[in-house]
Amino acid sequence: MADKNSEQQVGIVGSGLIGHSFAMIYAASGYRVQIYDIKPEQVQHALSTIDEQLEHLAKNGLLRGKLTVKEQRSLITGTNDLAECVKDAFFIQECVYEDLDLKRGVHAKIDGLCKDDAIIASSASALIPSLISQNLKHKNRFIVCHPTNPPFYAPLVEVIPAPWTDPDVVVTTKQLLAETGQVPVIVKKEIDGFVLNRIQYSIIGECWRLYEEGVMSVEDIDKVMSEGLGRRYAFMGPLETAYLNADGMYNYGDKYREMIYRVQCTFGAPRKMEGPTLDKIQNELTSRIPLDQLNERRKWRDIRLASLQKLKNDLDKK
Ligand SMILES: NC(=O)c1ccc[n+]([C@@H]2O[C@H](COP(=O)([O-])OP(=O)(O)OC[C@H]3O[C@@H](n4cnc5c(N)ncnc54)[C@H](O)[C@@H]3O)[C@@H](O)[C@H]2O)c1
Repeated sequence: MADKNSEQQVGIVGSGLIGHSFAMIYAASGYRVQIYDIKPEQVQHALSTIDEQLEHLAKNGLLRGKLTVKEQRSLITGTNDLAECVKDAFFIQECVYEDLDLKRGVHAKIDGLCKDDAIIASSASALIPSLISQNLKHKNRFIVCHPTNPPFYAPLVEVIPAPWTDPDVVVTTKQLLAETGQVPVIVKKEIDGFVLNRIQYSIIGECWRLYEEGVMSVEDIDKVMSEGLGRRYAFMGPLETAYLNADGMYNYGDKYREMIYRVQCTFGAPRKMEGPTLDKIQNELTSRIPLDQLNERRKWRDIRLASLQKLKNDLDKK
């Protein structure tokens, strides 16, 4: 395997769901990957999950990149020593729990061990980069790379620099993610929830309200997305969808602005996901997908997401 990427190391700190997924993503592009976790058994668990997933992908013709399962696997190693994980890494991806104090503590340790020119990325879902990195010596090398779950099958990554992040960190991070097959988008200003979760939470909020007010069942609300809006959104966003739904955006505005505004005025204040509505939604979902079948259902989802990616690649080749 004479790949120049194998001369470069990526360090993964925290080997849960997001950590092991990023390990697979970087190894599929030929990078050497070291995985570290505070719990040694978690590193072993991540390595066996990776073994299982690589075999599963190969069996279904969905393996990423040009390397074989054996070659990809040989690039990934586990360690119980944080220094070993980060000291030679050109790119470090922190994937520990979403807790500000924990992330600050982990980054303070990485800060004292990493190379001066390394890029230090956090997978944070909503913690803004300046809050995590403000006290770091290498804060100019810090950036948030927020993946979409499951990262191996849903390629979007939000890239969020802090005000003090070096411009080359943004450029190199974007290039690296694009090279691995992920799709980076830049969040130009720090904002709570970034963009993906702001949009996702506005959807969840409205679904909650519609259910609570007895407008639709859980199953049918989900169908509105999977059989309706989601069909288009898998290929284009809501703005292009609107543009195509009329003769351009001016025409869309002329036709629909009053109706959209009227409906938007009925959205009301946010509601917390708790109380009897939470019980009812949970019950409706568990009667369809029992909690002990979540892993089977995730596999079902991942196969479909991977097949959709394959379809999109094939269509874009033409
Ligand atoms: N799961 C998702 O849907 C999702 C999506 C996008 C982003 N994220 C973000 O990614 C990050 C990781 O989430 P996850 O779902 O992989 O969590 P997870 O619970 O699956 O894994 C977290 C891992 O961090 C390890 N850990 C805890 N403290 C540590 C320390 N001090 N040093 C090293 N390792 C430590 C834990 O042992 C665990 O293995 C979070 O910031 C989360 O918000 C999650």
